[in-house]
Amino acid sequence: MVNAFKKFIFSLCCCLLTLNLFACRDVSLNTVTTDGIDPSPNPTSPYEYHRIHSRDGIGKFYLGREIAKIMGHTEMMWLERPSRQTQERPNQAIEALDLQPTDTVADIGAGTGYFSFRIAARIPEGTVFAVDIQPEMVDVLEFLKTENQVKNLEPILGTPKDPQLPEGSIDLALMVDAYHEFEYPQELMEHLFQALKPGGRVVLLEYRRENPLIPIKTLHKMTQQQAKREMAAVGLTWRETLNDLPNQHFMVFERPKQPI
Ligand SMILES: C[S@@+](CC[C@H](N)C(=O)[O-])C[C@H]1O[C@@H](n2cnc3c(N)ncnc32)[C@H](O)[C@@H]1O
Repeated sequence: MVNAFKKFIFSLCCCLLTLNLFACRDVSLNTVTTDGIDPSPNPTSPYEYHRIHSRDGIGKFYLGREIAKIMGHTEMMWLERPSRQTQERPNQAIEALDLQPTDTVADIGAGTGYFSFRIAARIPEGTVFAVDIQPEMVDVLEFLKTENQVKNLEPILGTPKDPQLPEGSIDLALMVDAYHEFEYPQELMEHLFQALKPGGRVVLLEYRRENPLIPIKTLHKMTQQQAKREMAAVGLTWRETLNDLPNQHFMVFERPKQPI
């Protein structure tokens, strides 16, 4: 009896140790019932759902990549941290966008508008659509637009699948540190493709996953290879990657001028 009890305690300790090791390795054993998880198998879906997955992800995989958990609005001040100036060099990134004064730009996953407002100031005759799916982020965009009397920026409440942009209207769509957490990347990008003008560009800024020394959670980084795969899946053509930023890929894609 005493031996059986000792064995039980030993097994329990082993289980707990194993679970703890998993947790330390960025992996969690989640019950797959959280938001964004569709437990019903759908053979036509581009997504896979895994019960064992990173604790920073939602257990949903697209073309082999686990989608990251969304950055909630309560963390919005992180987006305005002064260290972004050195980590991301936003002015240099915006310079590289090669904006034209009359451009129509969409900032998808705009957050507090860290990039949207800086871009709006550069294109006084153009328009910036600042899209986010969190109403609290859109409220902040509205507040800052009014507070700073910015006339050429339109906050838009998108849905996880659709940025709600007019078809054929966008010269440049920008996504900074955001795409990796889109819950429906394929549907979102298909809508965005339709919103682009023929020849319109998509610029994707993502922390470089190839470099393990960049101190950002793995699921919040992307490799170039993966980004190219996902953009190609919706018909976008890779044009170039600029490697001047300290931590991020600056990847340029294009909607082909002629239908393929
Ligand atoms: C990490 S923040 C980056 C914000 C901003 N781009 C910046 O660099 O400061 C990512 C933002 O993407 C938004 N987001 C997530 N999924 C989205 C979707 N499907 N469409 C639009 N925005 C989305 C989130 O609500 C969040 O505000």
